[in-house]
Amino acid sequence: MRLFVLRHLLSNSGLSFIFMTTSILSADPSSQKQTILRAVELLERGEVIALPTETVYGLGADAFNEQAIAKVFEVKERPSFDPLIVHVESYEALDEVAIVASELREVIDKLIAAFWPGPLTLVLPKKPCIGDLVSSGLPTVAVRMSAHPVMKAIIRGLGKPIAAPSANRFGRISPTSAQAVKKELDARIPAIIDGGACKEGLESTIILPKKHEGKILIEILRPGPITREMLRNFGKVVMPRRGEETSMVQVPGHLASHYAPATPLVLCEDIDNFSFEANKAYGLLSFDGQKTWQKAHSWKAIETLSPGKGKLPEAAVRLFHCLRQLDEKGLDRIIAQSIPSRGLGVAIMDRLSRASQRG
Ligand code: TXA
Ligand code: MG
Repeated sequence: MRLFVLRHLLSNSGLSFIFMTTSILSADPSSQKQTILRAVELLERGEVIALPTETVYGLGADAFNEQAIAKVFEVKERPSFDPLIVHVESYEALDEVAIVASELREVIDKLIAAFWPGPLTLVLPKKPCIGDLVSSGLPTVAVRMSAHPVMKAIIRGLGKPIAAPSANRFGRISPTSAQAVKKELDARIPAIIDGGACKEGLESTIILPKKHEGKILIEILRPGPITREMLRNFGKVVMPRRGEETSMVQVPGHLASHYAPATPLVLCEDIDNFSFEANKAYGLLSFDGQKTWQKAHSWKAIETLSPGKGKLPEAAVRLFHCLRQLDEKGLDRIIAQSIPSRGLGVAIMDRLSRASQRG
């Protein structure tokens, strides 16, 4: 019934792509005030605009305006059963959109004190102000407080939370710069607020905190910049392996095939022994750039995530940028070198292995 209502809302929203000019509005210190005012004005009018966060760029709309939310799904070509993250600007606003059970209050207060503002999203039961379109009919809502000063100022100016998925077309690579957003959504939205390159480069960690047999459990629904190790002090951390039955809702962002470049991507443990097929153009996504010289002539293009040192934070920041670069080279295949699966490497490998699944 709920899904029927959602579909009805979407199909009757009267929206279809009206091709428009997409302006990139700079949020540099000299023009920041003006740009923030313009962003707020557009959101108040029910428009959908791209906004900077420290993780990736978001496609934002007034979280309480269902028509605007319907536009987000349309612009992104996102199925209506995939819910959006609600971005708040204050700690108090969490309680305005979500229900914090008394048995979880202490751990949630500790988690937000430690990681907000920042790349941590909490999934909690929703309050009635969150419409069914935002939550895709689920009884829960995903909430986060971004650390990006421009995003924060825009939410403050609007005086309401902003619902925002990543600003890419559905299933594609998340944008980490205003230019990357333009490539994804040009002519579909009126404005992109340019707050510079994203500092984290990977989408937020999504967790579902719960109490089980008297113990606090933190289930990681999507690995991200806040790692398993960082969450350990707050409760027992569980990260379901792919295909494992969990309490997790099955939504597209959690499905195998996601975050994919248009070029087929293959993960490879042992780059040195990779066998090249004749007449095929291969691109390499290298972790640290080591050893690529051995067969340098065989690769049509090489992008290195963290040249020289192989540092995971640098690799995370550059991941989507490097994938986009390779995707634009007209290759037959992108071969992605496996990353050490520890700390941030878990989130990077999560995105790479999803990108390698087709269909
Ligand atoms: O860093 C981020 O999280 C970025 C920036 C823009 O904030 N946002 C982002 O949004 O990555 P999106 O929509 O691309 O990914 C959010 C994921 C989706 O996979 C969605 O299915 C999941 O969060 N999600 C949203 N609400 C949920 C809920 N109530 N329960 C479980 N998963 C949920
Ligand atoms: Mg996304």
